Amino acid sequence: MNNFKNLRGTVDLLPEELIKWQNVEELIRQQLLRASIKEIRTPIIEMTELFVRVIGEGTDVVNKEMYTFLDKGERSCTLRPEGTASVARAIINNRMSNKPFHKLWYMGPMFRYERPQTGRQRQFHQLGVEYIGYESSRSDVEIILLAWDILQKLGIKELNLEINTLGDASDRENYQKSFLKWLEKNSKELDLDSQKRVNKNPLRILDSKNIETQRLLEDAPKLFNFLSEKSVERYSSIKKELDFLKIPFKENFKLVRGLDYYSHTAFEITSGALGAQATVCGGGRYDNLINQIGGIQIPAIGFAIGMERLMILAGQDLENARNTDIFIVNRGDIAESFAMDLSRKLKNYDLVTELDLTGISFSKQFKKANKLRARVVIVIGDEEAMKKEFKIRLFSDNIEDNKEETISLDDNIKLRNWITKHLKTLKDI
Ligand code: HAM
Repeated sequence: MNNFKNLRGTVDLLPEELIKWQNVEELIRQQLLRASIKEIRTPIIEMTELFVRVIGEGTDVVNKEMYTFLDKGERSCTLRPEGTASVARAIINNRMSNKPFHKLWYMGPMFRYERPQTGRQRQFHQLGVEYIGYESSRSDVEIILLAWDILQKLGIKELNLEINTLGDASDRENYQKSFLKWLEKNSKELDLDSQKRVNKNPLRILDSKNIETQRLLEDAPKLFNFLSEKSVERYSSIKKELDFLKIPFKENFKLVRGLDYYSHTAFEITSGALGAQATVCGGGRYDNLINQIGGIQIPAIGFAIGMERLMILAGQDLENARNTDIFIVNRGDIAESFAMDLSRKLKNYDLVTELDLTGISFSKQFKKANKLRARVVIVIGDEEAMKKEFKIRLFSDNIEDNKEETISLDDNIKLRNWITKHLKTLKDI
């Protein structure tokens, strides 16, 4: 008996399901390649201190959600809850800040000890993009546009883009002073979670989902009124550019994000089709992060898309597997060896080949080929095996094409010519 179960909040992704994942990932990769963004792969395990410093001690991610443990050398290690911190560390460690500009992407598992529900897991996957060294407000627009276009390209409807500005560090410091004064007077009326945040991470209170707290916050000082002229200008030019590009957006002054490293632009893309966990993409600018962990001052902005949520949203057309192109029907000991050899040769072409070596009858194999809708059937029976040849036949609407041909097993040129001749038909069907 199997007493082992996967851990709560983790899932096995099975072959049928993975067809959609692979199709979605392929589309995303194409988009990233076309935008000249390069892949980076960092370890999924890092020193705990990295995340504590970068994400912030007062955040839920650091306080409640990290998978942290001591390794055999008594070092505190953490399974990455997100990718931005690791990319920032890699920039410093690999002296990548010697060159000023990097456009990077990553895709892989992240870990957060959260309460699992639809669209929320403890091991989940993110596609992240980070633009390192980019300062102008145009790069903010570029990154928002990239996220938006990836989601559009996947045919996702009902998308809402929300943006906000968090100003720079001194804007926030000025605001925090005034906000804390207001909190002093009103903290007793806040919900319990928000009360706990007053000393640890007051800005996150703005993000509270508690309706009473939200009502109360309407009278609180607004961060926007504490922004410097420069910060306001920056934010205005982003909004202007988004308007120009006809990207619909809403301003949400309460959008502060759950990670401490952001400054200026913060944004989220949600979808009405997702239910409670509506945010499919979150991102923003983090100009001080690299400096904060020992690197030079280097501006940066990025986003991450939750892949599980993306799979819920992506259309059914992405659930289709690539068709089988060729089925090799075979029977008998020698025929099986020839069939294996032939299928190996066929791997040199961009064709999906299937063969059955379990010794089932010819008719069962033909049925299988039919079910798979294989467009070419190759037959190697006893007779063919003796003559060291095989029969090949294409099934197409054009009767001329359907003619069966015999090819010698050693005649690679004839095989290549046959495939080249029929390749277009094969791809078009
Ligand atoms: P985040 O908002 O924490 O940002 O996560 C980004 C996205 O990951 C979320 O919008 C959501 O779709 C997905 N996600 C987060 N937690 C879970 C979970 N438990 N289960 C399933 N999906 C989840 C970041 O992680 C930042 N590093 C984004 C960023 C990159 N900012 C700048 N550069």
